[in-house]
Amino acid sequence: MCGIVGYVGEKQAKPILINGLLRLEYRGYDSAGIATIEKAGIKCVKNKGRVSDLNNISSINSLEGTIGIGHTRWATHGKPSSTNSHPHLDNSGNFAVVHNGIIENYADLRDFLKSHHYNFLSETDTEVIPNLIHFYYESGKGSSQKRFLKAVIDACKMLKGSYAIEVLSSYYPDNMIVVRKDSPLVIGKGENENYISSDIPAILSFTKDFYLLNDKEFAFISRNSIEFYDENNRPIEKQAKSITWDAGSAEKNGFADFMLKEINEQPKSIRETIGSRISANSESILPDLNLTKSFLKSINKISIIACGTAMHAGLAGKFIFENLCEIPVEVEAASEFRYRNPIINEKTLCLFITQSGETADTIAALKLAKSKGAKTIAISNVVGSSISREADYTLYTHAGPEIAVASTKAYTSQIVLLAIIAINFAEKLEKNNQKIDELKKDILLLPSQVEEVLKSSDKIKDFAKRIYKEKDVFFIGRGIDYTTSLEGSLKLKEISYIHSEAYPSGELKHGPIALIENNVTVVSILTNRLLVEKSISNIQEVVTRGAKTFIVTNQELNYDFDEVIKIPKTNSLISPILSIIPLQLLAYYISKEKGLDVDKPRNLAKSVTVE
Ligand code: AGP
Ligand code: GLU
Repeated sequence: MCGIVGYVGEKQAKPILINGLLRLEYRGYDSAGIATIEKAGIKCVKNKGRVSDLNNISSINSLEGTIGIGHTRWATHGKPSSTNSHPHLDNSGNFAVVHNGIIENYADLRDFLKSHHYNFLSETDTEVIPNLIHFYYESGKGSSQKRFLKAVIDACKMLKGSYAIEVLSSYYPDNMIVVRKDSPLVIGKGENENYISSDIPAILSFTKDFYLLNDKEFAFISRNSIEFYDENNRPIEKQAKSITWDAGSAEKNGFADFMLKEINEQPKSIRETIGSRISANSESILPDLNLTKSFLKSINKISIIACGTAMHAGLAGKFIFENLCEIPVEVEAASEFRYRNPIINEKTLCLFITQSGETADTIAALKLAKSKGAKTIAISNVVGSSISREADYTLYTHAGPEIAVASTKAYTSQIVLLAIIAINFAEKLEKNNQKIDELKKDILLLPSQVEEVLKSSDKIKDFAKRIYKEKDVFFIGRGIDYTTSLEGSLKLKEISYIHSEAYPSGELKHGPIALIENNVTVVSILTNRLLVEKSISNIQEVVTRGAKTFIVTNQELNYDFDEVIKIPKTNSLISPILSIIPLQLLAYYISKEKGLDVDKPRNLAKSVTVE
C-alpha cells in the first residue's frame, strides 16, 4: 500500500524524491527511505518513521546522484523498523529495489535463494526481489542493458502476488527499470528527465504527460528515453496521456489539513461531477456508457461492489436505482463478494465504486464478475487508474485529487454520479419520468445547498469540543439516513479513534440501547418527512436514558435536543449528500480537538492495494 517515487534526470534526485514521498505519504507512513546512484555505487538512507525524519539522518547530505528511488511504507511483512524499510539491496549491493505490494511466495523464494547462499537481513517479502535479480543477472553475460532487463524480467517471472517495483543497478548508473502487476505505477515524461510515482498528483508539479503501465509491462528508463517491454521481453509501443488536473488542486490552499480542504471543496467537486451530464430540461448525457434499452431490460439485478466509504455510497445508490429503475440492487463489500461464489451472470450489471481505482479487493471482484459474464461499470475518481483498464465502462467522478485518508468529497461525488446513472437508465427504460425531472432539478441545486450546510461549521466545532473525550458514539437513521449513519460512524472512528456504531433507528431497542447511559452521544439523521415521527420516538428513547443528542435534519423539530444542525430540503434519494457534511465536520473537529493527525490516521492508508 506504500508510495513509491523515482527520478532519472540531470537534477539532484534527493529533493525531488523527498518532495514526491511527502505527497505520497498518505499511502503509508511507518517508515521511509531513498537510494541514489553515486560515484561509489548505490547509497541508501532509510529509517522507521515519517518521510520528514529522513532529513535528520546526517548521511542523507552525501546523496548527490541524479537518479534515485524512494519509498514510504505501510508494512505488510515485518514490523516497521530501519532494517525492514525500503529500499532493499541484494547481497552484493549492486541492485536496489523499492516495492509496493505483497510477494505471496516469498517464503519459497527465500528458501530457494538461501540454497544458493544468499542471506537475508530483513523480515520483508520484498528482499527476495533484489536478490533474485542478482541471481539471474549472474547467469547472464556481457554488460549490455539487455542483460539488466532480462534479469529483472526473469526475476519477476518467479514472483506471485502484487508488485510495483523500481530497480536501480550500480552497473547501469544512467538507468532504472520499473514494472507493475496489480499495484499502481505511473511514469511522468519530462525534458531530459523522467519521473516515476505511485500516483499522478505526487509528480503533477513536474509534468502533465504520463505513461500508464499495464500489468507485467516493463519500462527501461533513462534521462531522455523510455522503452517499454512485455513480459516476454518484446518491445511495445505506448502513448503518453496528458492530464488536465492542475498541480494546485493537490495542495492544501491555506487549509490546515487536506481533509478540511476537501470537505470545503464539495460545492465545486459536485459541480464537476454533474458537469454537462444533466440539465433541467433535456435527457442525461453519458457518452461513455452506451448501454442499450434492450440490455437494461434484460438484466434482473444490479450488484454494487466496493469497500469502505465507496460501499456506503453504493448503499445510497441502492435506494436510487431501485426507486427510479425498479431493478433489484444488492450492495456488497468487495472482500466478501469475492469469496462467496456470487450468483452473477450475463443478466447482472455490476457496478464497482472506487475513488482510487486501485483497491485490490474491488479490482479482484471486478475480474470475478467479468469472468462470470456480467457487464461491468467502474466509478472512479482517478483517470487511468487500474480499474479503468479492467472494466467494460468507466465513469469518472472528476472530484479532483483526494489526498486525506478519510474520504469526503469522493463520497458525495459518487452518490451524485450514481444518481445520474440511475436517471440515465430510467430514461432509457422510460420509467418514472416525473420523478426524474424533479430529481435532476434537485441535483443541480446541490452545490449551493452544500455551501449552505458548510456555514454550520462553527456550531459543529463547538459540539465537538463538548464530546471529544468520549469513548463511544452512536449514529442512527432510518432508510437512506441509515446509510449516512454508517458513513458518519466510519468517519468518526477512522480519524478520532472513538468507538462508534451505526444502527437503523428502529433496531436500537433490539440490543444496542443497553449501551446507552448518561451522557453517551447519539447522532441522529432525520431527513425523511414520512419517517419523522417514528424516528423522533427512537431519539426520545435514548434521551430518556440520558443520551446527548446531535441531530442533522431538514425538518422543523419542536424538541429540546442538545444540538440541531439544519440542512436544506432536497429529494430524499440524494439527501446523504447534504446530511453527511455535518458528520464529516464533526469527525474532523473531534480529531483536531484530540490533537490527532487528521490526514494520516494510524494504521490506515489511502489506497488499499493489498487484499
Ligand atoms: C474512507 O474514509 C476510507 N479511508 C476507506 O474506507 C476507503 O473508502 C476504502 O478503502 C475504499 O477506497 P477506494 O474508494 O479508493 O476503493
Ligand atoms: N510487502 C512490502 C513490505 O511489507 C511492501 C509493503 C507496501 O506496499 O508498503 O515491506
